[in-house]
Amino acid sequence: MKHKPEQEKAPLFDALLAHRQRSCANFHVPGHKQGSAFDEKSKSWFSPLLELDLTEVGELDDLHDATGVIQDAELLAADLFRADRTFFLVGGTTAGNLASVLALCRPGETLIVGRNCHQSVFHACMLAGALPVYLSAGVDDDGQERPLDPEVLEQVLRLHPDAKGVVLTSPTYWGLVQPVAELAKVCHRYGVPLVVDEAHGAHLGFAPGLPPSAMDGGVDVSIQSTHKMLSSMTMSSMMHLKGSRINADEVAHWLKVIQSSSPSYPLMASLDVTRRMMATKGEAVLVELLSRLQDFRGNIKALRHLSERRPPGLRDPLKLSLTAGQGVTGYQLSEWLASQGVYTEMADHEAVLFVFTMGTTPTDLVRLTEALRRLDKVVPLLPKTKLAHPPSLPQWRKADLSWAQLRRRPKRRVPLHQAVGMIAAEMIVPYPPGVPLVLPGERLTEAGIDYITDVIHAGGRVRGIRHEGEVPTLTAIE
Ligand SMILES: Cc1ncc(COP(=O)(O)O)c(C=O)c1O
Repeated sequence: MKHKPEQEKAPLFDALLAHRQRSCANFHVPGHKQGSAFDEKSKSWFSPLLELDLTEVGELDDLHDATGVIQDAELLAADLFRADRTFFLVGGTTAGNLASVLALCRPGETLIVGRNCHQSVFHACMLAGALPVYLSAGVDDDGQERPLDPEVLEQVLRLHPDAKGVVLTSPTYWGLVQPVAELAKVCHRYGVPLVVDEAHGAHLGFAPGLPPSAMDGGVDVSIQSTHKMLSSMTMSSMMHLKGSRINADEVAHWLKVIQSSSPSYPLMASLDVTRRMMATKGEAVLVELLSRLQDFRGNIKALRHLSERRPPGLRDPLKLSLTAGQGVTGYQLSEWLASQGVYTEMADHEAVLFVFTMGTTPTDLVRLTEALRRLDKVVPLLPKTKLAHPPSLPQWRKADLSWAQLRRRPKRRVPLHQAVGMIAAEMIVPYPPGVPLVLPGERLTEAGIDYITDVIHAGGRVRGIRHEGEVPTLTAIE
């Protein structure tokens, strides 16, 4: 599609270059003074970036009260990502998740939260003192997460008319795209905003063959790690807002509270130029990548032991989840690949995850195909592990205590086998399934403890469990 001519501009990046030309005497921070004082042995690596590492001087605007070039850059981003308003973030999607929840909730107020959300959403609930209702779609027989059912969300909203909003993740880390448009319609019928943590979905909607973005699905807030699936620098993200169900001034206030008062200009400028790149050539590059990935997937179909694990429902084609089945874990596959110099994004008990982006070259795909052919021959020789099947999680469950109450109650470490009936003070995440089995504020059940014990005995990992000598323990409240 033809882009608008104004999308060829990069107001913030251009202002940094113009300032560099204009400035002949620098009496402001940062102290390296555009690179003039810097460790000599490493300077050549940092130099070009140090020249752009400026502060709120001259025409360079202020992220926390943008009225000049940062505002212009954010307006262009809002236009491209089809938002009413876009905030540039220098604290990653983490900052956007925190600001969204803080803007929605006061202590003790109810918030509906996906159980598979990133820890920043739970940290946000902690800061806000929210009372969460955890929503889960559970996993299928292969241990794969299922998409959320809009009817279940509707039921939860009907039972919790006091809920201030819904926070969900789409796509998930493994590439499952939620039925966002249907979920947004349900939220709006009940008059609450839908916030989508779209950390892994900044590329969505940019080319035919990619699922639509959350903004296109009609959500109220989408927060995207531009640095993950697009090309900006690590820690730079964007937060897109649409409509009036969430108060933009309240969001701006919380972003000011959460983020540094010295935001990095290289990070912000990298958002500006990434937006330009996506507007001008994003679609063409992604169409080519998708076609190459189709050929690549065709080539790896011939492998005997390794196969693609496809999440049920809509999926992101830029994620590939490979499994060998038969008790070979994703950790083993990822370790073998690393021994060959091939580094993957993530692994779990079942599969290893590969991320493709606009930076993936044809040579990368040839190398990966060759490595996978070699790995396929090694798979039968790898030791096998038998892990318990994850218990089914409730489709939704309200926490017994709000995060505000949790803060005030005394906590102690207890041996796992004595914890039944107590309230968890920390998140417990067994692998499998890699989704929190127990979240802070939830009561520990016998079935849950039995499962955690089985996973530990089978050699699996459980986040939130600490061993004191031989005894597994967790932090709980009486
Ligand atoms: C689903 C999800 N949300 C949020 C984040 C945090 O994003 P950022 O690193 O941009 O702060 C991550 C990080 O991996 C994530 O996986």
